[in-house]
Amino acid sequence: MEKTFIMLKPDAVQRGLVGEIIERFEKKGFKLAGMKLIQVDRALAEAHYAEHRGKGFFEPTVTYIMSSPVVAMVWQGKNAVASARQIMGSTKPVEASPGSIRGMYGLDVSRNIVHGSDSVTSAEREIALYFKPGEIIDYPKVGDEWLS
Ligand code: PPS
Repeated sequence: MEKTFIMLKPDAVQRGLVGEIIERFEKKGFKLAGMKLIQVDRALAEAHYAEHRGKGFFEPTVTYIMSSPVVAMVWQGKNAVASARQIMGSTKPVEASPGSIRGMYGLDVSRNIVHGSDSVTSAEREIALYFKPGEIIDYPKVGDEWLS
């Protein structure tokens, strides 16, 4: 089943939005495959946003992501990457639909609460950056049979 990497960014942790955001993914029907609270260091932050190196927002984004612990998660399910991005809403909160996470809680692209992989390939890269193979857990979950 498709996996995606979701990160609750420093503002989500500081603003007490962790439980509510996790609930959105849980209730959608995704299965939690990995989760941890971590303090991102510069090497990890720069690796995560490597494709944006050289852009004006690269350094502020790296600094922001290191500014408080984040919650790193792997969620699994049918079309997990695309479906999770729909739940999160557009990168720029002003363009995010009102019911999405960014639409509900975000104001600025530089503090947009949550990160989600933009493709299956990105998900694989990001999961490998944040998790060791043994930290991703495959297990049967009651109710899975109602979701496909
Ligand atoms: S783009 O425009 O295609 O380069 O953007 P994208 O690949 O969707 O994501 C860029 C990530 O950097 C964060 N960020 C910004 N993006 C655009 N403009 C500004 N000013 C900016 N500041 C920060 C943005 O939130 C994306 O972070 P993630 O964690 O990937 O959602």
